[in-house]
Amino acid sequence: MTSIKLAVIPGDGIGQEVVPEALKVLAAAGPAIGADVKFEQTQYDLGAERYLATGEVLPDSVLAEIRAQDAILLGAVGGKPGDPNLPPGILERGLLLKLRFELDHYVNLRPSKLFPGAASPLARYQGEGAGDIDFVVVREGTEGPYTGNGGSIRVGTPAEVATEVSLNTAFGVERVVRDAFARAQKRRKKLTLVHKTNVIVNAGKIWTRLVAEVGAEFPDVAVDYQHVDAMMIHLVANPSQFDVIVTDNLFGDIITDLAAAVTGGIGLAASGNVNPDRTTPSMFEPVHGSAPDIAGQQKADPTAAIGSVALMLDHLGYAEAAAAVDAAIIADLNERDGAPRRTSEVGDAIAARVAG
Ligand code: NAD
Ligand code: IPM
Ligand code: MN
Repeated sequence: MTSIKLAVIPGDGIGQEVVPEALKVLAAAGPAIGADVKFEQTQYDLGAERYLATGEVLPDSVLAEIRAQDAILLGAVGGKPGDPNLPPGILERGLLLKLRFELDHYVNLRPSKLFPGAASPLARYQGEGAGDIDFVVVREGTEGPYTGNGGSIRVGTPAEVATEVSLNTAFGVERVVRDAFARAQKRRKKLTLVHKTNVIVNAGKIWTRLVAEVGAEFPDVAVDYQHVDAMMIHLVANPSQFDVIVTDNLFGDIITDLAAAVTGGIGLAASGNVNPDRTTPSMFEPVHGSAPDIAGQQKADPTAAIGSVALMLDHLGYAEAAAAVDAAIIADLNERDGAPRRTSEVGDAIAARVAG
């Protein structure tokens, strides 16, 4: 009997609605995973409610427990907009980013694929164009402007100054670039670096140098470069040209919301915060947030959370079960007739297909 310890953090807003659907599908995938494999789930009530009730965001003891798990499934974090008791950043930095940093999730993997049946706002990709868009963003997950390296002085005065320094280390850039090249080599052998080297010059140099140096070890992978602003054009005008995109933490955050929008919507976009060295549990979560505008109404699409389960299964070595979940998602998308479905209806439909 193989026992896999899974930390489940539904979090806030629609996280509470989509995670149960993802777990439904994980349960349905049991036979495909193997009769001798058991997921031992531990639920963690981290998020806005716990913070507002107790002041706790991620106690050290809870972090230590989570560190001892084999994988993490997360819904979303983020409280009600404008809540004076929950300023922006408390949960995002103190919970989500703390997990990514502490667990050294240096590869933030965000695949984008236009499945048949998914509606792209790019009309010409609907119908026979479906399937043309298939790229993966390898977003650096532990550095960039996300580290909290900065501060404010003279706050609230006309002389206020704020800095948010982007941290880029050769160690950190090299390891994520190497991972991206390895992925490209197994795919269509094309890697695109996205940055803003014409303005963010110092960080740009380190990324450019390491892509060239590591690239020399992957001579069969073609390399190109796009400035992040022009990338907004290319992702809309000709997204099928991309294979693997490697970029820093902030650029990767931004381009993956756009990537989701052009491939059927944010409700379909799955992600993995991966530690490729496997020294810590990797964490799987939809790209979207807590969506307070639709929370509690069973309107959220759980497909992104379910796709995150597929990424998790693949990471844990259950490639066949992961493929079965992906196939069920594709079949479900194909059969959508456009009528809105409740969150649980989508989960039920995909779980039924997985159970087959
Ligand atoms: P969001 O992703 O929560 O929502 C953006 C838009 O997409 C909203 O209109 C929302 O209704 C829609 N949407 C999101 N997920 C959907 C789904 N599954 N099905 C259908 N529609 C969906 O982004 P936001 O509004 O910028 O952020 C809300 C909160 O979430 C903020 O507090 C933010 O910090 C947090 N956030 C958390 C994460 C995370 O936990 N990984 C990610 C992004 C944002
Ligand atoms: C995401 C989110 C997070 C990020 C926030 C909530 C910290 O937008 O997962 O894309 O910026 O990485
Ligand atoms: Mn984001």
